[in-house]
Amino acid sequence: MNWGMKNRLSQLIQPDGHCFFLPIDHGYFQGPTSCLEKPGETIKPLLAYCDALFVTRGVLRACVDPANTKPIILRVSGGTSMAGKDLANEGITTSIQEILRLNAAAVGISVFVGSDYEKETLLNLANLVNVCEDYGVPVMAVTAVGKELEKRDARYLGLSCRIAAELGARVVKTYWCEKDFDKVVKGCPVPVVMAGGPKCETELEVFDFVYDGMQKGAIGINLGRNVWQSAHPVAMAAALRAIIHEKATPKKAQELFKETKSNK
Ligand code: 5RP
Repeated sequence: MNWGMKNRLSQLIQPDGHCFFLPIDHGYFQGPTSCLEKPGETIKPLLAYCDALFVTRGVLRACVDPANTKPIILRVSGGTSMAGKDLANEGITTSIQEILRLNAAAVGISVFVGSDYEKETLLNLANLVNVCEDYGVPVMAVTAVGKELEKRDARYLGLSCRIAAELGARVVKTYWCEKDFDKVVKGCPVPVVMAGGPKCETELEVFDFVYDGMQKGAIGINLGRNVWQSAHPVAMAAALRAIIHEKATPKKAQELFKETKSNK
């Protein structure tokens, strides 16, 4: 692995081998998502707890202070919206010149295995890897978003993750599943991070699945709505950080959540 690639990956994956990425990219197909109407305001109190931000170039330029931020994972796929026909019909949105100009530590791209656009999105990933590897920029593949999320079982997630890794993704983002999540991770030769999905009913549900996923081999999270749509985003971020980097159990995380919530 070349120096640049190693350096970028080590900005994202911390010395303990774990990571907490904060995604704020949802607007690229959802528009002004609830609690993310002003992304710059949303992230201000949360930056201290995360290891990287997952964001599009537009929000990065307009809302993120270049002098006071975290490593950037640039969302570089898109071209579809909630109002359109099929969210899976994505293309690559951002040139390598822009990726380098914005000093991205990595890029993220969605793949939609099993969709009508499986081949196109997988080739988007392969083509992006071809370009980014030349410049030492790691590619994170985002699997199973949108309609594909309905198929959230280990077989489907395992298939998506493995294919993304085979095509050259350096990190794969997927969803936790209750049964056999360890098989998803074991079948993927590159590190796996977990997304959160729509907001859960309780904080403990989030702590439980994140803890379980970490026990089963995930290296961390790329978790957005369950942080910034919480009534107590800072307490949520602090508690999740403790699970990821301090081996906190869900019970401990819940205690920390309550403590931080009452101090803020
Ligand atoms: C959506 C994404 C998000 O980064 C991903 O879904 C994680 O966010 P959340 O925890 O809110 O699901 O790729 O485009």
